Amino acid sequence: MTQVVRVAHTRAELAAARARLRGSVALVPTMGALHEGHRSLLQRAGEVADSIVVSIFVNPLQFAPGEDLDRYPRPLEADLAMSADEGVALVFIPSRPEMYPREPVVRISAGALGDRFEGATRPGHFDGVLTVVAKLFGLVRPDIAIFGRKDAQQLALVRGMVADLELPVRIEASPLIRDADGLALSSRNKYLSADERQSALALARALNAGAGASGGGVDGIIAAARQVLDEQHGVETDYVAVVDPDTFDEIGPSSTVGLLVLAARVGTTRLIDNVCVEVGSTFSEGLR
Ligand code: PAF
Repeated sequence: MTQVVRVAHTRAELAAARARLRGSVALVPTMGALHEGHRSLLQRAGEVADSIVVSIFVNPLQFAPGEDLDRYPRPLEADLAMSADEGVALVFIPSRPEMYPREPVVRISAGALGDRFEGATRPGHFDGVLTVVAKLFGLVRPDIAIFGRKDAQQLALVRGMVADLELPVRIEASPLIRDADGLALSSRNKYLSADERQSALALARALNAGAGASGGGVDGIIAAARQVLDEQHGVETDYVAVVDPDTFDEIGPSSTVGLLVLAARVGTTRLIDNVCVEVGSTFSEGLR
């Protein structure tokens, strides 16, 4: 039987409930529409901490005008059911005025990395992400926070913020989860029609092709992945690159491992995916 999970809607309710939590606390920040990828974040949180706190907040600061802020899926009952199933101690679901009682005077800047890759297409996106994540850290005061490897650039930036601002929280990364057909799980997959979903499988195939071309070095990996995307009807490639997973800089000549990252538009839906690749070797890990 599904347990009932404790919910806080206001900062005061959160503070009172947080004070009652025993032992170490892991925060899983989310925008809701929880899927099996989130479940794995919750399970990781349960492995590393005594109490799990989940936040559900569709953060307007990280959406540009014209993006999907208003149509972002909000299946709250299902989110609470999954949270309860995974033993979450507390779900924080603030309203927009509760989270931002005034227009923020100060925002966190994601710096140069915030303008590249995802940031090049979504200006200001990562400033919004880091601002809300810093705020959630201040409100929840977690010992540990869990982020998925699917959003690899977000993970690198959150780690960078925590290191640069000496924030007292440990960041744990949780593996990217795929559906049986290979598509990386994302709340935005709900926007795909059946045909678009078939086209979207090219992203995972492109990663596999890139990983399989590791003997050709970075250029060979990128070319192999790009070819799969470019040949797929209905897929518009945004970027394909091999980067250092920590800095998102180009990998140096002595690096043997990199992160193959890509983004593409399928219909009106923008999808991202990544895989760890060996560079300059005939072996590569392929999809996790
Ligand atoms: O990854 C997400 O769902 C969001 O960017 C996050 C970290 C919850 C901040 O709004």
